[in-house]
Amino acid sequence: MIQRVRGTRDFTPAEMGGRRQVEDLLRSIAREYGYREIQTPVIENAELFIAKSGPAVLEEMYSFEDRGGRQLALRPELTAPVVRFYLSDMSNYPMPLKLWCVSNCFRYEEPQAGRYREFFQFDVEIIGSGAPEADAELLMLASDLCRRLGLKEVSFRIGHVGIVREMLDAAHVPREEQSGFLHLIDKRRYGDAENFLAGRRIDADAARGILQTCAKHGDSSILNGMRGASVDYLREVVSLAESQGTGRLNIDLGVVRGLDYYTGVVFEIDAPELGAEKQICGGGSYSLAPLFGGKEIASTGMAFGFDRLILAMQRAGTLRGEEPLDLFVLAASETLRPDAIRIAGSARGKGITAEFDLMRRSMSKALKYASTRGARFTVIVGEKEKASESVVLRDMVTGGQDIIPVRVVTDEIAQRLRAGRG
Ligand code: HAM
Repeated sequence: MIQRVRGTRDFTPAEMGGRRQVEDLLRSIAREYGYREIQTPVIENAELFIAKSGPAVLEEMYSFEDRGGRQLALRPELTAPVVRFYLSDMSNYPMPLKLWCVSNCFRYEEPQAGRYREFFQFDVEIIGSGAPEADAELLMLASDLCRRLGLKEVSFRIGHVGIVREMLDAAHVPREEQSGFLHLIDKRRYGDAENFLAGRRIDADAARGILQTCAKHGDSSILNGMRGASVDYLREVVSLAESQGTGRLNIDLGVVRGLDYYTGVVFEIDAPELGAEKQICGGGSYSLAPLFGGKEIASTGMAFGFDRLILAMQRAGTLRGEEPLDLFVLAASETLRPDAIRIAGSARGKGITAEFDLMRRSMSKALKYASTRGARFTVIVGEKEKASESVVLRDMVTGGQDIIPVRVVTDEIAQRLRAGRG
């Protein structure tokens, strides 16, 4: 048998029920905050990601040449495609442009629990604002989202890449070499980071200062005594977000992010119960537009790992399954099938999910199917009842049966479903 591709997944109807539940929540929260939904293609020109996505993403990228000789890639993330889309089609929209999408991304990583080659991101971007309120809004949205998903133990870690970059500038580490250092810090490889600085003959005191700064974490008091525009900006973002109910946020100056396009505030959110792949969100402010031939524009954003949200909710036991079927209609004899089909049609028009028997089964077998399918009600169209223009309505939970006039049976079901949903 042909197998599915390693690192990809199929989703059963029950799994899709849970995924839709989470997506509906993401959709409603994005709308409440005034974000607008977009979609971009799965394939892009590879160069879109080559410029600034950082070595990790590039090594993991699915890229290939198409029949026309174009170098293409399956998107490893959504920020670069969103900025490309903004530059080509949305640059005359009123600012800030607040966009969101849930889409699949692809990275050639070693698959394990919580890490896949095809995974989904809930991506949120704010284009056009360089104010601390924009970064603070992302943190507020993220905190709201975690609360509504029922994730209690999440931890936020917030830094600002400008702080370390300014120190590297002062130590004369060229900009193009700085990302190498930041990647080591991102991976928490402090020994290698120290060697990196030693290899560039950075003054020992300056090197110590840089490494100590990268190791700083705690509440906002860790910024006491520190000066500079980046520090002030970070302080303002954290105080704004905390005053709007995010709860206490951890500042961690070692958060510098794996992608190379970040320029300002950066943050990561962990759900520790997920173990090794505990990072559920990453984001921050970035510069990508000039790289794609556009004008510099202040931008900030974040992406939640959708699949990791699902895993965390599964563990918390708050994930629903498939929506049950409301109604299954069956006919007691061949000649009554059109009546059964008509009743299912009338039910659907009233928002009731309804199926009729497509297998021409016997009554008992059809009833068994309705029961395994989880139908809440069945309607049985029988000869005897037909004579009095009635049908049998069976409650599949209680087993109770009533004879109901055909013309009101779907209204009756709708009413009972409403009462049941309370
Ligand atoms: P990222 O940190 O590379 O950031 O990815 C965001 C989230 O996607 C991660 O925190 C993680 O939850 C999830 N994720 C990443 N790789 C995988 C995988 N292989 N399997 C399952 N989940 C995964 C970005 O992609 C940036 N574009 C975020 C951003 C938006 N920055 C600004 N705007």
